[in-house]
Amino acid sequence: MAGNKTFTMIKPDAVKAGHIGNILQQINLAGFRIAAMKLTQLSPQKAGEFYAIHRERPFYQELVAFMSSGPIVAAILEKDNAVEDFRKLIGATDPSKAEPGTIRARFAKSVGENAVHGSDSDENAHVESTFHFAATEMF
Ligand code: RTP
Ligand code: MG
Repeated sequence: MAGNKTFTMIKPDAVKAGHIGNILQQINLAGFRIAAMKLTQLSPQKAGEFYAIHRERPFYQELVAFMSSGPIVAAILEKDNAVEDFRKLIGATDPSKAEPGTIRARFAKSVGENAVHGSDSDENAHVESTFHFAATEMF
């Protein structure tokens, strides 16, 4: 059975561009409840750990530098079928290929600076949530 939680980050490009409010509104209107949330900045080391799965990819150094370049909003979101429905809401990794109206189509600049992160499985949603939040910060 599909889980009901996913993990997201509003990435540094979208925070810098002033899109936090609009992105959270779109997330709420799509039926997600915010179960945890914080404004924070990842160190290069923490960003490297978070995206360790991409360690061997050519864009890894660029990704780590970008994700640690400024504040992010980290959040846990709750809804039936959360992981899959949130990936649909954010759209394709490359915003030029994202469905019109998706968060990345509306707010992302490029495949690297693509406005939001969304977990890709229930297992990773759990790992990523506990990476960012203590039990006392989840509601
Ligand atoms: P995310 O994990 O951030 O939600 O993104 P995703 O699943 O749609 O894409 P993934 O393959 O997991 O890639 C993670 C992030 O790495 C950056 N990226 N840059 N320059 C490039 O070709 C490239 N490819 C990926 C993006 O920031 C992507 O979201
Ligand atoms: Mg991913």
